[in-house]
Amino acid sequence: MAKKGKSDVEDPKQAESRKKDHIELAFKSSLEKSEMDDRFYYEPMLSGHPHSTQASSFDFAGKKMKVPIWVSSMTGGTEMAAIINENLCRACAEFGMGFGLGSCRSLLEGNTKRLSDFDFREVIGQEAPFYANLGIAQLEETIGKGNFNQIEDLVGLLRADGLIVHVNPLQEALQPEGDRFKKSPLETIQVLLSKTKLRLIVKEVGQGFGRESMRALLQLPLQAIEFAAHGGTNFSKLELLRSDEYRKNTFAPLSRVGHTVGEMVVSANALKRELGDSCLTNEIIVSGGVKDYLDGYFYVNKSQFKTVYGQASGFLKYARGDYESLKKHVQSQIEGYKLAESFLRIK
Ligand SMILES: Cc1cc2nc3c(=O)[nH]c(=O)nc-3n(C[C@H](O)[C@H](O)[C@H](O)COP(=O)(O)O)c2cc1C
Repeated sequence: MAKKGKSDVEDPKQAESRKKDHIELAFKSSLEKSEMDDRFYYEPMLSGHPHSTQASSFDFAGKKMKVPIWVSSMTGGTEMAAIINENLCRACAEFGMGFGLGSCRSLLEGNTKRLSDFDFREVIGQEAPFYANLGIAQLEETIGKGNFNQIEDLVGLLRADGLIVHVNPLQEALQPEGDRFKKSPLETIQVLLSKTKLRLIVKEVGQGFGRESMRALLQLPLQAIEFAAHGGTNFSKLELLRSDEYRKNTFAPLSRVGHTVGEMVVSANALKRELGDSCLTNEIIVSGGVKDYLDGYFYVNKSQFKTVYGQASGFLKYARGDYESLKKHVQSQIEGYKLAESFLRIK
């Protein structure tokens, strides 16, 4: 005899209440044209519902992930950051996501008082990727003094899998107390690659990379490139919000330039074809204004690289309080992603 399914044993009261809801809500349920998402083919015929069995893992950033979701770098160095990082690392361990720490500059400068804000290898465990983070300005300065070992020591101290370098010339220029680069970031990264064996991920901080910067990056043996594209958190704009009115108005136009995730996926794909064997970076984290799992699903599948999607502010909203709210959020994002995988194809 067939086993009774959920639908066979429905409570009549529940069925009645649903029918009532349907009648009352039917008129409200139609969508405006502007609300429709036409990026996908909806294929209701080809799959059953995703089941919640454990996802199989895949290699990324030198480690294993179970879902293509990356927690993009957010700052450390405050008490709140420790709570946020701990919550996020717990979620990464539980769901198999990758994690980028925020800038570890204070640790590089020897301030180990705040080590506990960053020290989450035990929490995230050994499987998932866990990366340290430094700005290109700190890298240029440290390398300029020949202190490559300081950078390696930082990664070692955190038992991180590698280093994320954020390249942020406009942010630095617009930050009242910002640094100035003496060399091109490309030169600094090339020197670091020639002197250490560290796995490196290079990212921006909200304005992405233009085609020629992307071409140069793709030809380096990086572990990955994170877009940190235009359209989400934008650190040039954020610095202007910290500035006086005059600077704010004068430099605002520079915070409005950049490249969106969509634009960058197209240019990275074209460069991959163009560069052929000279394309040495194979992994991409699409990030910067990725709104949710559906955006993520779209870009991950548009990309011709091994790709995961990253979010910073999207996680921050849920990571500041108790772990359960973050867990619920992450579970829902994964559920949405799996539904997309089952029923949506990219146009
Ligand atoms: C609160 C906060 C702090 C951040 N701190 C850093 C940082 O220390 N280093 C870094 O590389 N990026 C940092 N970022 C930038 C994000 O990693 C990056 O822009 C991300 O790719 C896209 O963010 P979004 O999902 O909020 O649009 C920070 C972002 C936020 C929201």
